[in-house]
Amino acid sequence: MARKVQFVETVLRDANQSLIATRLPYAKFEPMLETIDKAGYYAAECWGGATFDVCLRYLNEDPWERLRKIRAKMPNTKLQMLLRGQNVLGYSHYPDDFVKMFVQKAVENGMDVIRIFDALNDVTNMKTAMEATVKAGAIASGTISYTTSPVHTHKKYVQMVKELKAMGATTICIKDMAGIMGPQEAYDMVSAIKDAVDLPIDLHTHSTTGLAFMTYLKAVEAGVDIIDTAISPFSGGTSQPATETMAYALRQLGYQVDLDDACTKKMADYFKGVRDEFLADGTLMPKSMATDTQCLTYQIPGGMLSNLLSQLKQMNALDKFDEALIETPKVRKDLGYPPLVTPTSQMVGVQAVTNVLQGERYKKVSKEVKAYCRGEYGKTPAPIDPQVQKLILGDEQPLKGRYAATLKPVVAETRKKLGDLAKTDEDVLSYIAFPNLAEKFLEERKAKEENVATYSIVEC
Ligand code: CO
Repeated sequence: MARKVQFVETVLRDANQSLIATRLPYAKFEPMLETIDKAGYYAAECWGGATFDVCLRYLNEDPWERLRKIRAKMPNTKLQMLLRGQNVLGYSHYPDDFVKMFVQKAVENGMDVIRIFDALNDVTNMKTAMEATVKAGAIASGTISYTTSPVHTHKKYVQMVKELKAMGATTICIKDMAGIMGPQEAYDMVSAIKDAVDLPIDLHTHSTTGLAFMTYLKAVEAGVDIIDTAISPFSGGTSQPATETMAYALRQLGYQVDLDDACTKKMADYFKGVRDEFLADGTLMPKSMATDTQCLTYQIPGGMLSNLLSQLKQMNALDKFDEALIETPKVRKDLGYPPLVTPTSQMVGVQAVTNVLQGERYKKVSKEVKAYCRGEYGKTPAPIDPQVQKLILGDEQPLKGRYAATLKPVVAETRKKLGDLAKTDEDVLSYIAFPNLAEKFLEERKAKEENVATYSIVEC
């Protein structure tokens, strides 16, 4: 019997994030949810990553309400989210009580699969979220942030997978956020992990460098169970390879693909129109959709590349783009070869741009990079360059042990502080994750509700 390969559709989250900075409002994709639900995906990635932040910051949407609405329209397909381990959806570590409650509420509101990663692949930063996911009855997908460096070996990755399994992972995801994994590497790495554990493996990559189709094909040959793709109009470039193209090729090679072609065609027709709107208003830059092999040298993930571009554009310094690209791997080496994924990608990217614009390295350092050098993000894959660390920290000593263990519980106190502004636990969680954004959102909601109430009294 033909071996089955399953698909995760990323148009609602990663494709949306990589191509149009997560600006897709709920109303724009709502008409397609029932079709996606019928299409036969393993899961639809629709939440987490930057969606939560952008919902509050730019789209005036309650991210929890978005999740519930998606759930209601998609009863048959697993909903998947991306969670940054102890960072949850933010950019620094949170206390354990918040991590546990966030995971529990995500599952209560409809989440089925939680893909958990840590920017440094430090599994101690993933443990709280992994265990909370298992406890809530959802699928804990233990994730490797894939990167290459002199210290990232298969042996280390396999060891990590075993540790994730021990924490309760029921699937393993190899997350190649930069699209730098080549076909042979995919074959070898999937084979190595398949040999070590008997869990389903999902490969996640980006089309940035043009390798992705070949990489998926060789991964499938090595036994990968699930691949992440985006419906064609939102595929390619910094996004994922096209769903329909992969389905076509794999079927031709004799694999079983349970996607409904009528559904994917309907989705493609619809999302073509959406893509054209974002192209017309400039949110979607044609550069993001192109193949860029520079990433093979510089290892810049999709999202980071578009962030670098818009950052330099804002500062009127687009001419420094090439220089910033060259500085990025140097900063990464200094910082002990962190994989470039949120939040380390932002830290490294911003530091590289700052070094270039200042004309002097580490003259200005963000508070995040300082915290990183103090050890607040966990154990770095290789030691931080001692000279750079000294330059950044001065006489301050880096901490030992898990940073989150030093943080005080935050949920109960925040609930008390917010009073009637927070109607639900979800409101409290939004506030802890993004205090300024959530406060604004909750206050506006309250004002709106009070107006509605006054109006209805007049009506009577
Ligand atoms: Co991705």
